[in-house]
Amino acid sequence: MNTAHSGLVKAVIPAAGLGTRFLPATKATPKEMLPVVDKPAIQYVVEEALAAGLTDVLMITGRNKYALEEHFDRNCELEDTLRRKGDYERLSRIEQSADPATLHYVRQGDPRGLGHAVLCAQPHVGDEPFVVLLGDDLIDPRDPLLTRMAEVRQEFGGSVVALMEVDPDQVHLYGCASVRPTADEDVVRITDLVEKPAPGEAPSNHVVIGRYVLDPAVFEVLRTTEPGRGGEIQLTDALRRLAEDETIGGPVHGVVFKGRRYDTGDRGDYLRTIVRLACEREDLGPDFRAWLRQLVAEGS
Ligand code: G1P
Repeated sequence: MNTAHSGLVKAVIPAAGLGTRFLPATKATPKEMLPVVDKPAIQYVVEEALAAGLTDVLMITGRNKYALEEHFDRNCELEDTLRRKGDYERLSRIEQSADPATLHYVRQGDPRGLGHAVLCAQPHVGDEPFVVLLGDDLIDPRDPLLTRMAEVRQEFGGSVVALMEVDPDQVHLYGCASVRPTADEDVVRITDLVEKPAPGEAPSNHVVIGRYVLDPAVFEVLRTTEPGRGGEIQLTDALRRLAEDETIGGPVHGVVFKGRRYDTGDRGDYLRTIVRLACEREDLGPDFRAWLRQLVAEGS
């Protein structure tokens, strides 16, 4: 099953961040274009949305993000050259995973936080539920998460957030949820949320990972959400208001994800993601794993 039965059509991918953690690599290149093995990180995210049956992808971009549009457009000259050379293997690698017509772009202008980025999607999304995917979190395609979230939205209405349980010393890096169990083992009711709680102040170890199914009521809430953590308009703060008062846009539930998630948000996690995915690749993995074993044995 995919999200096609749930009325979900549109995906929003915020991609306006400056990527300062990866400077100088991201001085002129969007961080979303950094390769994870041999595909830009953003391509995994777009493929996840399409695999879930979403057919309309809106990217929230900003200055210096032209490469994103180029990447998802066809490059006929390159295709012709590879075809003339008979290099069908490489040609297949640039065959579009997404029809360029399914991708749309809007610029955030003044980057005022994730909540503000999502608000920029309102004219495109209109009055229908939609999905938000954050590019720093990659979800393994073998562990579908969005389809489960779509089912939960269908069952309860309102909004649905992806959660993971993490070690308590990691909670301060994320939005954190107070939760109550439901009859479904992997679904919780969210009663409160706090963005990046100070150590010792976290209500639980259930943290928000970057997948959301949002009721359009979130837009009106975002419009009046004051800057929060870091002086930015936080999506977490808008969701907290929805969770506190379900007459606004229905309840907020969490799907507790136990599958494989790869973080590409900082340099260490990014490197770990690449090594793990390279090891698993059929074409690159065998040689790479042997080399890695040797490297470790040498104690470097
Ligand atoms: C954002 C959200 C945070 C969430 C995280 C998931 O934070 O604000 O609530 O837990 O993504 O990756 P960021 O990592 O962009 O600072």
